[in-house]
Amino acid sequence: MSLFLRKWMVALTGLFLCIFLVVHLSANCILLLPEAVARGMYNAYSTLLRESPLIKVVAYALYLSIILHVVFALLVTIRNRRAKPTPYAVNHHGENSQWAAQNMGLIGIFILVFIVVHLANFWARIKLGMGEGVGLDAQGYVDVYAVTSSLFHNPYYVAFYSLLMIPLGFHLHHGLKSSLKTLGFYHRSGLRVLARVSLFYALIMSVGFGVIPIIVYFK
Ligand code: HEM
Repeated sequence: MSLFLRKWMVALTGLFLCIFLVVHLSANCILLLPEAVARGMYNAYSTLLRESPLIKVVAYALYLSIILHVVFALLVTIRNRRAKPTPYAVNHHGENSQWAAQNMGLIGIFILVFIVVHLANFWARIKLGMGEGVGLDAQGYVDVYAVTSSLFHNPYYVAFYSLLMIPLGFHLHHGLKSSLKTLGFYHRSGLRVLARVSLFYALIMSVGFGVIPIIVYFK
């Protein structure tokens, strides 16, 4: 497969994951409501995710996108390293001075560790029934609110979830910008708008996901 197609795969799967994060953060904002309201709403949302056949298809597309995004990003990185094994001598438009752009691989590893721990914390408990402390709610479904609340009453998990949102923010900032560029969004004034939109998106995502565990801890 050509480098061009590989980059397109990284960009398309990345954009799909960006959309998923908007939906995921919006749903997780339920956790900020008072407990009496939040428990019912969060559990109802989570049950809908597991029971709806349509959402199941989207979930499989999501898992596939995560795998393809990592694999193709690795292939592009290896190819780029082979093509230019020495660091840049010239700084093109200041782009290669951006820390996030140069360390996308390293930042990606942090995010991968986060996703593996996160899926073990939630997905494996809720969907596979693994681990302890998974009770049922009044409707007889898994009490996802209780799983979340007990996890975020552990200060180590709060620190883990909140701190890892910093590399996530850097990754999203650079990733959104470069995937839209790869897909053809390349105009001088458009690029400035793109940079601002990416920064805004990354800030909302990292601050949003980062503060939820802290607020739940003090609730
Ligand atoms: C405050 C932070 C977060 C909370 C409370 C949270 C909560 C959850 C919960 C409860 C689930 C299981 C949903 C269900 O099946 O009922 C889940 C799944 C998932 N989360 Fe998160 N999440 C957070 C942040 C993130 C972040 C930052 C990412 C990605 C970087 C992420 C990626 C995923 C993925 C990929 C799944 C699997 C989705 C599925 O199976 O449908 N989450 N999360």
